[in-house]
Amino acid sequence: MIPDRTPVGRGVYHATAEVAKGAHVPNFQKYKELYLQSIQNPEEFWGKIAKEYYWKTPNTGSFLDYNFDVTKGNIYIKWLEGATTNLCYNVLDRNVNEKKLGDKIAYYWEGNEPGDCMQVTYKGLLQQVCKFANVLRAQGVKKGDRISIYMPMMIELVVAMLACARIGVIHSIVFAGFSSESLCERILDSHCSILITADGFFRGDKFVNLKQIADEALRKCRERNYTVGKCIVAKHLGLTEDTLIDEASTCPQSPAAKRSCYNLQAPWNADVDIWWHELMKDASDECEPEWCDAEDPLFILYTSGSTGKPKGVQHTVGGYLLYTATTFKYVFDYKPDDVYWCTADIGWITGHSYLAYGPLANGATSVMFEGLPTYPCVSRFWEIIDKYKVTTFYTAPTAIRLLMKYGEEPVKRFSRESLKILGTVGEPINPEAWLWYYNVVGNRRCPIMDTFWQTETGGHMMTPLPAAIPLKPGSATFPFFGVVPAILNESGEELEGEAEGYLVFKRPWPSIMRTLYGNHERFESTYFKKFPGYFVTGDGCRRDGDGYYWITGRIDDMLNVSGHLLSTAEVESALLEDAAVAEAAVVSHPHPVKGECLYCFVTLRDGHEFTKTLVAELKAKVREKIGPIATPDYIQNAPGLPKTRSGKIMRRVLRHIARNERDLGDTSTLADETVIEELFSNRCRTL
Ligand code: PRX
Repeated sequence: MIPDRTPVGRGVYHATAEVAKGAHVPNFQKYKELYLQSIQNPEEFWGKIAKEYYWKTPNTGSFLDYNFDVTKGNIYIKWLEGATTNLCYNVLDRNVNEKKLGDKIAYYWEGNEPGDCMQVTYKGLLQQVCKFANVLRAQGVKKGDRISIYMPMMIELVVAMLACARIGVIHSIVFAGFSSESLCERILDSHCSILITADGFFRGDKFVNLKQIADEALRKCRERNYTVGKCIVAKHLGLTEDTLIDEASTCPQSPAAKRSCYNLQAPWNADVDIWWHELMKDASDECEPEWCDAEDPLFILYTSGSTGKPKGVQHTVGGYLLYTATTFKYVFDYKPDDVYWCTADIGWITGHSYLAYGPLANGATSVMFEGLPTYPCVSRFWEIIDKYKVTTFYTAPTAIRLLMKYGEEPVKRFSRESLKILGTVGEPINPEAWLWYYNVVGNRRCPIMDTFWQTETGGHMMTPLPAAIPLKPGSATFPFFGVVPAILNESGEELEGEAEGYLVFKRPWPSIMRTLYGNHERFESTYFKKFPGYFVTGDGCRRDGDGYYWITGRIDDMLNVSGHLLSTAEVESALLEDAAVAEAAVVSHPHPVKGECLYCFVTLRDGHEFTKTLVAELKAKVREKIGPIATPDYIQNAPGLPKTRSGKIMRRVLRHIARNERDLGDTSTLADETVIEELFSNRCRTL
C-alpha cells in the first residue's frame, strides 16, 4: 500500500523547489491520486493517454483482456486489440507533421572519439527511415518477417529499427558486444531473413571488426543448415571491401583520422553482402507505413534464461508505445526543451525503450553516445553533459562505481549546471554510489530516479517521480501508474506491511511481454508457473515500514554483471565445451565495480593440469561463446564439487567458499564433506 502522507524522516531526500516547479506530478498526493486512478480504472487512464497518439482504426472492442492464471488456461495479455496504428508513424510522422517538430534535433550523435559528432533532426530521421524501409521492402521482406540487427551505436541503428517498425517487420537487435556464436544462436531461433550490420567500430582504443564476426555467425548458421539471404553493411569506419586491415599501431591517433584508417579484413561476398549506402542511393523517401494491430509484434529481444538458452522476449506495438512514452514523460519529468541522455546501448532493452521509442514518442532531443565513460579520459561523461547542456542523465550503477574510483576532481572540471534529473537502471545501486552520484555529480540538486524494470516488462515498474516521491538511497521507491506489485513468501502467500520475499506483479501493464518467440510454453512456465495468478520477476524484494520497495537481487540462477543479466548455466555450458573440463559450476560473486562477477569452479578430466594457460584458455572460451561481458573474473580448480546425495551441486555452499565464509549453513545433505576443505584451500585470492 502507498502511504497516505508524504514520507519524511532521516535519510529521506526531497525535491528542491526548482525541481517541483512545473512538474507533471508536483507532489506525493498527486502521485497517489493518479496511481489510484490508474489502478481503479485502467481503461480510462490508458484510454486518455492513447488519444494522444495516432490510430488508423481506434479501439472499439475490449480495451484489456488477459489471463494471468495458468491453472485457468493459457496465459495471454491483450491491450487495445483490434485498434491499428504504426509505431514509426507515431514517433516520426506525427512529430514532424502534426507537432511541427521537423527541425528539432532528434539525436546528437557523439562518437567514440571526442570531436567526432553529428546531429539528425526529426525530419532528417523520417527521411532516412522511409528510404531504408523502402530498401527493405525492395529486398522482399514483409510484415511479420524477422530481421537481425547487429550494429554499433550509430544513427543507422535507429534508422534500421524504425524502418522495420514502419513496415511491420519484427526487429531482433543483438548487442554488438556479443560473439558470433551468440549472434548465430539468435538468428537461428528467430529465423531472421536478413542481417544488418556495419563494417566495424572502436570501443575506446580497441578495434572491433564487426563484419568479420557477422560473417562468422552467418557461416555458423549455414553449418546448421540455415542461410540468411542478405547481409546489409553500413559503413561506419569507411572501410572498403578490397583491402586488408591496418594494424592498430599504425593508425594515426588524431580522432577523426582514426575512424577512417581501417580497412575491411573480412572478405566481401557479393552474393550476400550489400552496402547500406548503395541501397539507399536511389531509394524514395516516401513510404506508406504498414498499419499494424496494437497486438502485432514489434520486436524480439533476447535475454538470458536460467536454462542457458536465451529467451526471445516479444513485445507488441500498441501497449509498448503507450507505456514507454508515458514512463519517459513522468519518470524524467520531460519538458520540450530538455536534452536527455541515456548512456545504454540500443542492443539492450534500456536502449530500445529509453534511447529510441520512449524519447522519440515524446519528441525529445537525445544524446546518443558511442564511446566509453573512461575514454579518452575519465571526464568524458561530464564533458559531454556540458557540451550538449544535458538536463536529464540516465546511466548504470556500474558506470557510477567505476567513475567514483577516480575521485571528484574529474567531475568538478566540468560545470554540469544544465543537469536537472539523474537516473539509474540495471542493478541495485548501493547507497555509497547513490550518495556520490547525488552529492558530487548532481550537486545535491538533482533527484535520482532509481528505475527497477526488466527486458520482460518493457518499461519502468518501480521508480520514483522527480518532484513527487521522496527518495531513499538504494530504493526504487514505489510502483509506476498501472503497476500492482506484491511480495510473496515461499508458499505464495501475499505479505503485507514490512516484508521480504519474491517480487511479483498482480496484473498486466501495457508493455508487459506477450510471449517468448516461438515458445509460449516456456513463457508460461518461466513467469507464471511458480505462483499462479502472478507475473514472477525472479527478483527478491523488501518493503520497509514506509512502504518503500528495495530490490534485493535475483533469486534464480541469474546474475547481474555490470547491469547485464547472465545465466550461470550459459557460462557453465561454455566452460564444458573445453576438452579439459569435466564439470563446471558457476556462482555470482560480489565485485566493487561490476556489482557482481562470475566465479567459476571447474573439475578437470584426468590427464589435464590446472595451469595459468588453461585459465586463460577457459576465459577466452567464454568470451568467444558469449561475449566479453561474460568473461569470468575467477576460475578455480575444483577436484570435487559439493553435491547432494542426489547429485545436485550445492551452489549456496560454493558461494560461501568463493567469499571465504566459513559458516556454510546447513550441510547435512552434502554427500561428501571432504571436498569442502580442498575447495577452501584452492580459493582464488586475487583477480
Ligand atoms: O535483477 C533486476 C535488475 O536487472 C534485471 C533485469 O535485467 P534486464 O532484463 O537485462 O534489464 C535491465 C534493464 C532494465 C532485474 O530482474 N535490475 C534492473 N533495474 C534494477 C535492477 N535491480 C535493482 N534495481 C534496479 N533499479
